[in-house]
Amino acid sequence: MNGTTTTRTDETEQIAKYWNDIAYDFDAIYTGKKNPISRGLDRWLRRDIYERYEWVMRQAGPPDLTGMKICDIGCGSGRFVASLAKRGAQVTGVDFAPDMLKLGAQLAEKEGVTDRCKFVLSDVLDWKTNEKFDLVIAIGFWDYVADPLPRLQVIRSLTKTTFLSAWPRAATLRAAIRKVRLKADGCPVYFFHLAQVEDYLQRAGFRVDSREILGQLHCVKSSVVAT
Ligand SMILES: C[S@@+](CC[C@H](N)C(=O)[O-])C[C@H]1O[C@@H](n2cnc3c(N)ncnc32)[C@H](O)[C@@H]1O
Repeated sequence: MNGTTTTRTDETEQIAKYWNDIAYDFDAIYTGKKNPISRGLDRWLRRDIYERYEWVMRQAGPPDLTGMKICDIGCGSGRFVASLAKRGAQVTGVDFAPDMLKLGAQLAEKEGVTDRCKFVLSDVLDWKTNEKFDLVIAIGFWDYVADPLPRLQVIRSLTKTTFLSAWPRAATLRAAIRKVRLKADGCPVYFFHLAQVEDYLQRAGFRVDSREILGQLHCVKSSVVAT
């Protein structure tokens, strides 16, 4: 795992701690390692977590991704990293919660794709790299970003072709409930209207190719605008 020095605001510190503390519980949404009632509630109330995963797997390209370089921003426990690596891609996951990255590294090992996976401990804002990626994804990430433009500009600088992102929708009942729940847990959360998302993406140098609503999310496929 590569480490970098991060410049953090108080809020990013708080968000990193929140995710680090619940890394195992978050991953259990994928593994289903929890009691049957909680598992059933996940399948019902968190359906869009599974749907956004399937959306990325469909949009990433053909079944064989050999030769592609992919970057997953806010990769969490590495579910996307390992799956895309299993399809042959070289995948770098970036996250600022160390325990999430430990789970990601364990998963890569279990799936036999360690040689195609790299994990970087950093906020994307502070990540110093000259690498470029054919595909960049940021899923379940914007929820925790108060001001998306600076991070989107970094993502644009990393992206050769395509950027897949999922944004939590503003002005839904679930958004209001989630804001109260996460605030009580010490984690700020943000929501976005589609017009805002498109405006951010365009200002960062992306063209929106397609968008769809999946549950509580705007899922947007965009591509770089040549400069
Ligand atoms: C809801 S989890 C999503 C993980 C993964 N993308 C998925 O969908 O399974 C959000 C992840 O984003 C990470 N994260 C949030 N803000 C971040 C930031 N500014 N820099 C790096 N990682 C961040 C958190 O640590 C957490 O692991």
